Amino acid sequence: PCRIAALASGRGSNLQALLDAIDGGSLAAQVVGVFSDRSKAAALQRARDAGIPARSLSPKAFASRAAFDAALFDAIDEVQPDLIVCAGYMRLISGGAVDARRGRIINIHPSLLPAFKGLHTHQQALDAGVAEHGASVHFVTPDLDGGPVIAQARVPVLPGDDADTLAARVLEREHPLLVETVRWLAAGRIALAEDAVQVDGVAGPPLQLA
Ligand code: GAR
Repeated sequence: PCRIAALASGRGSNLQALLDAIDGGSLAAQVVGVFSDRSKAAALQRARDAGIPARSLSPKAFASRAAFDAALFDAIDEVQPDLIVCAGYMRLISGGAVDARRGRIINIHPSLLPAFKGLHTHQQALDAGVAEHGASVHFVTPDLDGGPVIAQARVPVLPGDDADTLAARVLEREHPLLVETVRWLAAGRIALAEDAVQVDGVAGPPLQLA
């Protein structure tokens, strides 16, 4: 099965969704390592509870972003992943590390990209007054939150929403969105060709999932 390395900085609910799908037999993949930039990330404990090797590296221990990423990705390479999933990983990855793994790193981002890159996406959506919000899974490229989008899930913005209610509505859809996207990737049906996502060999708009 598809060997997955996951990167996570915090809570790890998206990681848990992958683990649960694998455990339940609905996702033919294996999480072979979980990596974090924060030693206290709950995601690390989730991994250990599932018997998966989990490691954190402190960015403070390195002189530069490139040096940190070199050490991090050395550790990741050791578990020989087919796919690297950023599941709530909150650090920018240096271009060199990304370029060397082109088409093999994906990220889940809590907005309908290309709208609302960066942080505080739910507040950004509220401030912009959009009627629809959601989440995207995209290939990671050196362009922050700018890589080709593979799949999206949409939710309405409702009257009375604040950033927390909106985040909760989006998160509920993130989990099946990530699982389903990884399912397509693990089945070899999705590839990054030039700057476009191909599904079954054909370039097209993002899949609308979950
Ligand atoms: C998720 O909402 C994810 O989309 C977001 O962080 C949260 C992590 O939750 N990621 C980003 O904002 C990436 N820039 P989790 O730790 O429970 O999966």
